[in-house]
Amino acid sequence: MTGTSQSTIARLEDLVGRMTLAEKVGQLNLLQPHRFTDLEEKIRNGQVGGVFGVLNPADIERYQRVARHESRLGIPLLVGNDVIHGYRTVFPIPLAEACTWDPGLLEQAAQVAAREAAANGTDWIFAPMVDICREPRWGRVAEGAGEDPYLGSVIAAARVRGFQSIEGIAACPKHYVAYGAVEAGRDYNSVDVSERALRDVYLPPFKAAFDAGAETVMSSFNDIAGVAATINHFTLRTILREEWGWPGVVVSDYTAIAELIEHGVAADLRDAARLSLLAGVDMDMQSEAYDRHLVALVSEGAVPLDLVDEAVRRVLRLKFQLGLFERERLDQGRAESALLTEEAREVALRVAHESLVLLKNDGDALPLTPNARVALVGELADSRKDMLGCWSHTGRAEDAETILDGLSARLGSRLEYVASEVTAAVAAARTADAVVSVVGETADLSGEAHCRAHLGLPGQQAALLEALAETGKPLVVVLATGRPLAIPRVVEQATALVLAWHPGIRAGRAVADVLFGDVNPSGRLAITFPRTEGQIPIYYAHKSTGRPAEGQGTLQFDVPFRSTYLDEPNAPLFPFGFGLSYTRFAYSDLEIESPITDRVVACANVRNVGGRAATEVAQLYVRDLVASITRPVRELKAFERITLQPGESRQVRFDVPVASLGFTGLDMRYQVEPGEFRLWIGSDSASGLEGSFRI
Ligand code: GLC
Repeated sequence: MTGTSQSTIARLEDLVGRMTLAEKVGQLNLLQPHRFTDLEEKIRNGQVGGVFGVLNPADIERYQRVARHESRLGIPLLVGNDVIHGYRTVFPIPLAEACTWDPGLLEQAAQVAAREAAANGTDWIFAPMVDICREPRWGRVAEGAGEDPYLGSVIAAARVRGFQSIEGIAACPKHYVAYGAVEAGRDYNSVDVSERALRDVYLPPFKAAFDAGAETVMSSFNDIAGVAATINHFTLRTILREEWGWPGVVVSDYTAIAELIEHGVAADLRDAARLSLLAGVDMDMQSEAYDRHLVALVSEGAVPLDLVDEAVRRVLRLKFQLGLFERERLDQGRAESALLTEEAREVALRVAHESLVLLKNDGDALPLTPNARVALVGELADSRKDMLGCWSHTGRAEDAETILDGLSARLGSRLEYVASEVTAAVAAARTADAVVSVVGETADLSGEAHCRAHLGLPGQQAALLEALAETGKPLVVVLATGRPLAIPRVVEQATALVLAWHPGIRAGRAVADVLFGDVNPSGRLAITFPRTEGQIPIYYAHKSTGRPAEGQGTLQFDVPFRSTYLDEPNAPLFPFGFGLSYTRFAYSDLEIESPITDRVVACANVRNVGGRAATEVAQLYVRDLVASITRPVRELKAFERITLQPGESRQVRFDVPVASLGFTGLDMRYQVEPGEFRLWIGSDSASGLEGSFRI
């Protein structure tokens, strides 16, 4: 949204000038209706600035009518909603979407979601979730874009552009900040990261979202190095307002202000309200702390009135910019007709296609032949609700195609399905040419407050796979999951392994298209897959340490005095950026033009050396070899999706700003240090053509 016009400022100032203190505080109160039987009365009294989690457009209309026509000043409500990966057209979970490495497509998907949400009365989307996460035990890893700040920033900006391309919609990147670093992967747990890690890993996706125009942000539940995010002057004022000059609205997460009491940093709700407003939280989601205590706090001089006015101006400016004062009544007909259009379903199919990651394909077991006899095994193959993933409360299970639907449409009587009974599954396998087994997690094993300490296959799925593997038939495993799983045994057993995540309403068609080769998989991992929980946190952009596992430099001692385990390799099950195709790509002719000005230009040739057209995601990584701060052994700095016909080769050319090669230095300021860099161009974070350059 553009800057605030003079006329808007005049209208806003006139309004503020007519508001009582109680009405100002009312604008800072955000409530979820089902918890408040007296909500309409509160709205009529001017005690409510916004509502959220209202799914019925008629209810939204009713609340807006009370606000516009029955309150003294007629200030309309903000209407927020968690539109995390689609509204009624449910896309793959965001972690799956990140594996597309296709920001243009994700921008389109966000636009589809925003269009559906806007038509149904939402004007504030509590997304994108941009928390960088290296913790697959954490249930909310499903909602984000994975482990990497660069990929996470590109995707955050794309989603914000997509959401806010729809008139009258404000995005809300969340959760500010470092919520994805919860200790032990346990939700709401402590986060103890350095300022440098904040600035170099966790803050960049928020800065990218704000640079893309995000008008609001949601502060997080967690503490950050001992200071709760909800009352954190450093993140909420120093970074957000002073360093970045960002003018938008800060909303607390659900009852996070009240939770300051549990954190042990507020004596009571009054104290929590005071500390939060002073720190810079503009709107209080659901805790009623501002509604109950701010008027008295201002009257007693514990909170300056001008800080309340500052927060009120931000909220009203947003309402003017969203056009809420002029908004026509919701067109109920449009609300329904905007949902699940053919165009939206096609976008959902494309995202599902591109989010699937081929992790193994021994002997080119895939694609399946069109006339194959297939035994399909696994309860997840016939589940609609689990295809929707963990955050789809505006979606409907009946909209989802199951993987069984998709394969049945292809194979008809040549498909035999067995849910979970081992004897029947083995019998079906014996008469089939190939077995497709869908295993993994139900959708309720990921998402908020749904964390797992064990990352294997839940229930009896492992035993089922053992029995199927013993039949000796080609075993295609389709992994439906909301997080990376530690499944080395499954990788051994599978002839082919396709990571489907929770792929949304088009799951059935998308999986079938990939299994039968109509679509050549192009997904690449946006997050590392561990071999075991004991390796976590495990991520590609790790530091070298003084005793790296691989012999480097002038080490004066022998193994085992290196940074390794006695009982597990350091290497992950699958590295960040990894994904196979039904063809193969060959990289050659790496060229690096020494930085002439402020750019490093690197090129390489990519050839499709197989027999099928395919899309590769060429990735560029760098390493700063000697710096004043220890630097990651690799950092993603650019990528490009290229589609190549069989035999075709093309040069990928990356133009990397030197300014992007820096880090937070000893003085906590961003800097680029001269010196030698390694550079790789390749298919993932563990391979590629290697070169070097100096800046
Ligand atoms: C939840 C989540 C947040 C969501 C909010 C409103 O607890 O932490 O992501 O937007 O409450 O539903």
